[in-house]
Amino acid sequence: MLELLAVPQGRNYIAGRWVDPVGDRMLTSVNPATGEVLGVAPDSSAADVDRAVRAAAEAWPSWRATPAPRRAEILFRAAELLVRHKEELARLATREMGKILTETRGDVQEAIDMTYFIAGEGRRLHGYTTPSEMPRKAAYCVRQPLGVVGVITPWNFPVAIPSWKIVPALVCGNTVVFKPAPETPLSAAAFTALLVEAGLPPGVLNLVTGGDETGAALVDHPGIALISFTGSTDVGLQVAARCQARGVRVSLEMGGKNAAIVLDDADLELAADALTWSAFGTTGQRCTACSRIVVTPRAHREVVERLADRARRLRLGDGLDPATDMGPLVSASQRQRVETYVEIGRREGATVVLGGERPRVPGLERGFFYAPTILDGVTPGMRVAQEEIFGPVVGVMDAASLEEAIEIVNGVRYGLCASIFTRDVFAAMRAVEEIRTGIVYVNHGTTGAEVHLPFGGTRATGNGHREGGLQVLDVFTEWKSVYIDYSGRLQRAQIDRD
Ligand code: UN1
Repeated sequence: MLELLAVPQGRNYIAGRWVDPVGDRMLTSVNPATGEVLGVAPDSSAADVDRAVRAAAEAWPSWRATPAPRRAEILFRAAELLVRHKEELARLATREMGKILTETRGDVQEAIDMTYFIAGEGRRLHGYTTPSEMPRKAAYCVRQPLGVVGVITPWNFPVAIPSWKIVPALVCGNTVVFKPAPETPLSAAAFTALLVEAGLPPGVLNLVTGGDETGAALVDHPGIALISFTGSTDVGLQVAARCQARGVRVSLEMGGKNAAIVLDDADLELAADALTWSAFGTTGQRCTACSRIVVTPRAHREVVERLADRARRLRLGDGLDPATDMGPLVSASQRQRVETYVEIGRREGATVVLGGERPRVPGLERGFFYAPTILDGVTPGMRVAQEEIFGPVVGVMDAASLEEAIEIVNGVRYGLCASIFTRDVFAAMRAVEEIRTGIVYVNHGTTGAEVHLPFGGTRATGNGHREGGLQVLDVFTEWKSVYIDYSGRLQRAQIDRD
């Protein structure tokens, strides 16, 4: 059995080997619940990135020439290894980024689902054949890999999000340089070790850990054909600008300010359960987290009360403890960010109904904990109603009607997901039609997208690409149209019509 926790520390994985970085700068991986140091990983330099990109470029011709069904067989084995090591990986991820074990198991499960789903494409990767305008001429199109893909991922889904990118990139015939978030290098190393154990040839997948500088070196490397990035909108737009200046393809998955509408006729018990999960699950650190609840007048008081009642009972603690409902924030700086936003909300005139402070629970002092927080009286112009907070903070807003609620939902720069709670099918269908997000839920919170549907958002959330679903194949491939003329004479398209 592969010893995931025995993956060598302080090394990158390049050209089929765990190698020391060129410099000696290291990142420290810290358990955000306890402050315990878990280990170190390279804070890689541009020279390390260069080595990794070269290795990936060298591996590309033979990986691309490997038939897609063969590439996929390796990925199916990776899925089996993920199943076998699910618990170990989940525990490591909980220790490294803090979310509770049930959720890190879900994170690994999402990677398993993605890997089985998209490895199936090894035997499809469909193009199409179509008649030519000319006699005795064949016409069809096929998907082609792009080359070396740079994958930059966040810490909140340390296994699932890398899988959304790396697995499709590989099945399509690209090679990969993977740069995970500096907060979760050990989970990334374990995931890499597992993919490699499944049989990837040397150089096909390379890991370089590090922070912003490492990421920038990857984005700017001339050997990269595509950057697939998930993270904040600010960083994503910088990545895009740098890629676009060189004509490098970029796929962006960025911020959100997701809202749920609760209409007067909704099942309020269901809404309260679902929104507790969507707002405070993963300590609110999901790009799909619900951070605005837009409620019509008669339901308002009850929604706030029921939500507060549930949120008050959430037990904060170490995610490894089965009694814990909500873990810490990932870092001191994330907690600082949340505290700043709650302060902004207060100054803007929102009422703190619950939380708004660090929990005063003995034993949690060493972790980056923050109480589940509900702000009431939030209005659309407030910064807390417009900007992504990425923490356990949800704002409740009033809307007089369905129309006004939809306007509020759409009135932000982001467009990842939204939901509506109602028993009225007319209202639900109107919301589905008029809400301008990439994902809409009815009678369900804003979290919980499934891997076989396109995942992504409109406007400042993305740049038109989707992860998940078969749509992800469009990110990692280029189309090639092929014409084969077997007439034996010159046939000029658009000219020789008669
Ligand atoms: C993210 O928060 O970046 O839909 C991804 C969901 C999960 C994925 C979240 N399946 O909440």
